[in-house]
Amino acid sequence: MALRKLVAGNWKMNGTLAALAELDGIAAAAAENGGVDVAICPPFTLIAPAVARAPSLAIGAQDCHGQAKGAHTGCISAPMLVETGAKLAIVGHSERRADQHETDAEVRAKASAAIAAGLVAIVCVGETEAQRDAGEAEAVVASQLDGSIPGEGTGVSLVVAYEPVWAIGTGRTPSTGDVAAMHAAIRAKLTALLGAEGAKVRILYGGSVKPDNAKELLAVADVDGALVGGASLTAAQFVPIIEGAVAASA
Ligand code: 13P
Repeated sequence: MALRKLVAGNWKMNGTLAALAELDGIAAAAAENGGVDVAICPPFTLIAPAVARAPSLAIGAQDCHGQAKGAHTGCISAPMLVETGAKLAIVGHSERRADQHETDAEVRAKASAAIAAGLVAIVCVGETEAQRDAGEAEAVVASQLDGSIPGEGTGVSLVVAYEPVWAIGTGRTPSTGDVAAMHAAIRAKLTALLGAEGAKVRILYGGSVKPDNAKELLAVADVDGALVGGASLTAAQFVPIIEGAVAASA
């Protein structure tokens, strides 16, 4: 089943107010290419200004807390994000799993909190290079999915992003065959976990998606979109990726 593709940009810890000028071209391209969904996830501080600048564009966050409120200094909850105009929240990105030591259980709590607040949760999974070299990639990702996917997730409320850690920010990507094999394995796992809804959850590929490889990666079976880091920071790089997604959808 071909699902409507989602091209999401993750700005990570990049961007001050001046960066919002890039949203003009991205929002225009999103409007012109209505066959795919487009989202940008800037730093927390830019969410409200981004929504104000590009009201037609879906704006998301890069994290949320697993609880709605409480004594958690420095954290941001899903209901707070909703109030800023955010529509999505990335949870469990490998950089947070590594830097903030987030566990699968915490990621699942964050995803559940996002969904409960009405956000789309983008749950990230992916193996390290050592794990792939050891032949453990699919087992690692299956285990992350077992631990991180909220049982209430649906094709509307949940998105999964497969981001091999060794492909992030390196310019290296898996072969299309390896992407196809992993996405098929993720699809099977989602169906096992979520039943019929598992067939409707979009599975994004992330890791060095660029204008010159987007169409090829997005044409792979069960690749229902892309999660883009570096190349989402400028309209000049991100718009061709949106166009690649449209071409791959045809
Ligand atoms: P790059 O596109 O910069 O490799 O980053 C991918 C990523 O981590 C998106 O979440």
